[in-house]
Amino acid sequence: MSLSTQFQWALDLREQQMVFELDHKSLCPSSLKSIRPPRRASLLVRSLLVGFTFIVLTITAPMMAAQKVELSVEVSKSGAKIDRNIFGQFAEHLGHGVYGGIWVGPDSTVPNTRGIRNDVVAALKAIKVPNVRWPGGCFADEYHWRNGIGPQRVVTLNPNWGGVTEANTFGTHEFMDFLDQIGAEAYVSVNVGSGTPQEAAEWLEYMTTAQPTTLAKERAANGHPAPYKVAFLGIGNESWDCGGNMTPDYYVSQMKIYSRFVRNFNPAQQDKQQMLKIAVGPGGDGPRWTEWTEAVMKAYQQHTWSWDINGLSMHSYTVGQWPPSYKSTSFGETEYSQILKATLDMEGLISRHSAIMDKYDPDKKVALVVDEWGSWYAPLPGSNPGFLVQQNSLRDAILAALNLNIFARHADRVRMANIAQMINVLQAMIITDKEKMVLTPTYYVFKMYVPFQDATFVPVTLDGGWYTHGDVALPRVDAIAAKDANGKLWLEITNLDPNQPVEIEVSLFGITAKSAAGEALTAPKVDSVNTFEAPNTVVPKPVSAKVQDGRLTLKLEPKSVTVVSVEQ
Ligand code: AHR
Repeated sequence: MSLSTQFQWALDLREQQMVFELDHKSLCPSSLKSIRPPRRASLLVRSLLVGFTFIVLTITAPMMAAQKVELSVEVSKSGAKIDRNIFGQFAEHLGHGVYGGIWVGPDSTVPNTRGIRNDVVAALKAIKVPNVRWPGGCFADEYHWRNGIGPQRVVTLNPNWGGVTEANTFGTHEFMDFLDQIGAEAYVSVNVGSGTPQEAAEWLEYMTTAQPTTLAKERAANGHPAPYKVAFLGIGNESWDCGGNMTPDYYVSQMKIYSRFVRNFNPAQQDKQQMLKIAVGPGGDGPRWTEWTEAVMKAYQQHTWSWDINGLSMHSYTVGQWPPSYKSTSFGETEYSQILKATLDMEGLISRHSAIMDKYDPDKKVALVVDEWGSWYAPLPGSNPGFLVQQNSLRDAILAALNLNIFARHADRVRMANIAQMINVLQAMIITDKEKMVLTPTYYVFKMYVPFQDATFVPVTLDGGWYTHGDVALPRVDAIAAKDANGKLWLEITNLDPNQPVEIEVSLFGITAKSAAGEALTAPKVDSVNTFEAPNTVVPKPVSAKVQDGRLTLKLEPKSVTVVSVEQ
């Protein structure tokens, strides 16, 4: 029985008691004192009820009190660097992910810089987006880059996502301009499914060469004489499915060809900042996917001077059930706990595929790149189902924190990740509607985690017990710690329990803490959301910790994400 049910139960008892008293009074309007037997009965029942209520309160009182949890942080021990690229974003030509979300065009009444929304740029700068994956997704394997350059854009179709027309007004130059405005790196996915190695090679030459080739001159004529930087190259997308339904062996032979011929010529990227090539990897758990990882990694182990890969992609959405039918609004504790349970599968998935990678790449040269992750719910009623529109609630904020913590714990192998998707699609950071914009609970988690970008992982131990609901049991508390470039310690602690606060006592080994302060994100309900009308329902609020004898005590609200820094 949940705490709220128990409260209701106690209230019901009190109500019954009052009804009993009223009934009794109405039976005895003149004087209760004069009618002795009923009064004895009343007293007896009342004493029973009082006793009963006392028992109920005795049982529920400790449950209302904060759970005490101990957390130990080994500050003198260090793990891997939490690569800032695990906070990457994904922007596909899908619904209003690009058109309306990023691009409004220079003539729009929405304030913009060269067609790119100023409000969105400002919001994304604040979360220090490290990289953006583009143009897809499934869209990438049907994308022909020439349609999106020059003064005359070719209008095509977007068969994957709603069958709408694709104006191609947002192409290579607009994407690079957008990245420049927000200060992020390019993660370009090339078309392996319906394109050719030559088409992809020419695109890279167009973007990156500093030599006076015909393609470089065309780039200059289109407004950008200097070569662009392409930090990451995706060799196809989901080639096992929407990207061409390839077998592992067929994909591996394509991967080698693309890796060999799709070159980056940018002079600044020849030594240190070399473009990293990311191969298509698994899309889930089970033999089909382990076979895929085996095939790519086995090929990698045997690779020669002529080709290489630096990353293996992995896609894993939190869906609950397929097709996506969980609602993104108006849900309760059952759906909250089920979705969080489902999202924690990320841990096993990463462990299993990392173990395969370890076999072929014990030095961990190839990164596991979780370049599509996040929640995928039923489309919002009234929206185009092909546009993957969903709301974003406090549940998504907690889901995001749990996944980011899993990535951080695997930071030696997971060095990049891209949440799907940045704006207006799936688990978005930002929702827009014409001139309106609202920041989601997930956005605020990414903002709170900025100090973890490129910080050094610090091991923590805790046992917060379990939060249970129905047949779902979840660890009540999750936490990570890291030291930033200045040596400052940061802690993130998530209280998954939607009903009970947690009083967490943190023992810090290796430093003497003086104070700690930060922010906590919570809201009245698990399904609380931010809307255009009420944009501040789920926003972080300041918190501070008590520090005594070097130990921190911090109260975590139910269903909350808390980030604090420790002053020594
Ligand atoms: O993010 C939506 C879609 O999910 C992507 O286009 C595809 O790669 C995946 O199946």
